[in-house]
Amino acid sequence: MINPVKIIDTTFRDAHQSLMATRMRINDMLPICDKMDKVGFFAMEVWGGATFDVCIRYLGEDPWQRLRLLKEHLPHTKMLMLLRGQNLVGYRHYPDDVVIQFVKLAKKNGVDIFRVFDALNDIRNIEVPVKTAKDCGALVQGTISYTTSPVHTIDKFVEFGKKLEALGCDFCCVKDMAGLISPQAAYDLVKALKKSIKIPVDLHTHCTSGMGPISYFSAIEAGVDIIDTAISVFGGGSSQPATEMMVASLNDNRRSTGLDLQKLIEIGYYFLELKNKYKKFVSPIAEIVDTTVAIHQIPGGMLSNLHSQLKEQNALDKYQEVLEETPKVRKDLGYPPLVTPTSQIVGIQAVMNVLSGKRYSQVSKEVKEYCLGYYGKPPAPIEPTVLKKIIGNEKPITVRPADLLKAELSERKKEAEKLGILRKGSEQEDLLTYALFPQIAPKFLKGEIISEKLEIEPESVSANITSEQEKKVAAIAVALHHYLKQTSQEISSVTSSDTILSNWKMISLREGLR
Ligand code: CO
Repeated sequence: MINPVKIIDTTFRDAHQSLMATRMRINDMLPICDKMDKVGFFAMEVWGGATFDVCIRYLGEDPWQRLRLLKEHLPHTKMLMLLRGQNLVGYRHYPDDVVIQFVKLAKKNGVDIFRVFDALNDIRNIEVPVKTAKDCGALVQGTISYTTSPVHTIDKFVEFGKKLEALGCDFCCVKDMAGLISPQAAYDLVKALKKSIKIPVDLHTHCTSGMGPISYFSAIEAGVDIIDTAISVFGGGSSQPATEMMVASLNDNRRSTGLDLQKLIEIGYYFLELKNKYKKFVSPIAEIVDTTVAIHQIPGGMLSNLHSQLKEQNALDKYQEVLEETPKVRKDLGYPPLVTPTSQIVGIQAVMNVLSGKRYSQVSKEVKEYCLGYYGKPPAPIEPTVLKKIIGNEKPITVRPADLLKAELSERKKEAEKLGILRKGSEQEDLLTYALFPQIAPKFLKGEIISEKLEIEPESVSANITSEQEKKVAAIAVALHHYLKQTSQEISSVTSSDTILSNWKMISLREGLR
């Protein structure tokens, strides 16, 4: 039986997260939903990852409301969200009560398919969200975080794929967040998975290294069921291969997608115009093919983070050294795949090792917690001398990290009620927003987060001004604008781990977290 290749379109989640710091707004999605809904995508990835955080931090937009609106405007297409296992859409492990309630509400508000991953491929970190999603009647994509290292063999990945199937996942997704998978590796891995598990296999890659479309074709030859793509204007570079390109290249293939290319091209025109509006967020680095990732294995998003991090520390001359240090730290720490949050953990430590001049003389709280097992089990044992330096005589935990976390929801509820931030009609969702991001949620829920400006800069204001007095005011505004821009780029050279960490998080968000 011929099995057409199915397409998951990522334009509303991964694509804009990869290319323009996750800034696309709901008002720019809705006008094209009707057309996208009629294409016949297997699913659309529309929620999760960094979208939640960016919505409340920069856009003043309610992520739950976004989900409901998308559901309403995409009645015929399954909606998929990316869930970071026990980390949900945040950067730390949340206790089970928060995880369970979050998944239930996400389903209730419109998510049909949960793609659940753990940075370390530690099955214990995805069990609770997977089981909850299944209990709610949702579909689940159990995910293999793909990376390359001496310990990441095909056998190991297949072993994990079997665990995902045994857990009850409906699909197995190979998530190659750095665009590392070569055509041969894609072929071999998909072939091996198809032989060993019965659930459909999805390959998710990025064009960072330029190999993406070739690897997809290779995976299709090996029998992959689903591939992830983005509408051309938001495809390529560090995003997914373009939807139109994949559909066109398979048109005369026995596994043709059957999707209407003409419809896709018309949708492309909409996004072509839209992208202009967001041009200040489009990172030029993200748009080019960078095959160096195949050598040093540092994903594109992390490279631009390292660069900005060093720039803010006035230490750009150390960039090359940090690039060389990063894979060494990764090796010391047992080869974690470089994806949120492990990419931050490894990156920060590499910066600290280089800036302090003495490896592991300073360690961040996160690295220590990682070494103590609070993120899960590393793929390979941590280098013993490094482990000793970091944790001294403390003993790493051996239980599932979330087993040590106390329930939080009822406490958070009391706090939120005291703050008076739960809005009538959306109390449950607001409580979750607060439980996930207690620092920024109150400001957002009180309506104090004003949506960022897109393109109106003082220069364009001054162009419409005629009177002399107004021209003077406009000139001052322009000067002030440039001054602020400059000073914000010259943030001191303090190198405490806290500063490095908070800078890193800010940069990650600005540049688009992966
Ligand atoms: Co991705």
